[in-house]
Amino acid sequence: MEALRIISDEHQALASILHAIRFMLKEVGAGRLAPDLKLFQAMVHYLDAYAEQRHHPREDPLFIRLAERSPEAADALARLAEQHAAAPARIAVLQQALEAYIADPARFEAFAQAFDDYAEFYRGHIMLEESAVLPRLRTHLDAADWAAAEAEFQADMASRDLAAHEDFAGLFSKLVACAPAPIGFGPRPFTD
Ligand SMILES: [Fe+2]
Ligand SMILES: [Fe+2]
Repeated sequence: MEALRIISDEHQALASILHAIRFMLKEVGAGRLAPDLKLFQAMVHYLDAYAEQRHHPREDPLFIRLAERSPEAADALARLAEQHAAAPARIAVLQQALEAYIADPARFEAFAQAFDDYAEFYRGHIMLEESAVLPRLRTHLDAADWAAAEAEFQADMASRDLAAHEDFAGLFSKLVACAPAPIGFGPRPFTD
């Protein structure tokens, strides 16, 4: 069940970053905070590399096993599978909105709106997983299921040659260090 703990931890990390970006955008919009474009870029990178490309693939093998054992979770699992599959399109919208804003500061509102949509989607996604799926994983999957699902996830990561060794915990700490108080320990300029 180590995977379940990791999934819950990742949900918390994602919720923190989403909250931080939302807070910063509100402050920038109100003229109380100078935008840190590098920090926004790093945060969107974190959402792409960590949430979209690593977190959902860790869930997929577990969700597929649960579908075989828990018919009452079928609707939620089908919806979540569609949402996982839409990850590339979802993050592309956010990346494009950020790039447009970097090229033209007048596009701030459009970026803020794109981010709000993204954050709102994630709130619902995580709530659905935590209410309809994670408790059932706990009761319906056995140790062999957990081990097999984790092995599939690791094989998937290796086959896609993702930046598997990227230090996400370190990046998370850096993001928090640069985000303004009270959500972070900054503001402090983000540097690579
Ligand atoms: Fe997910
Ligand atoms: Fe999740």
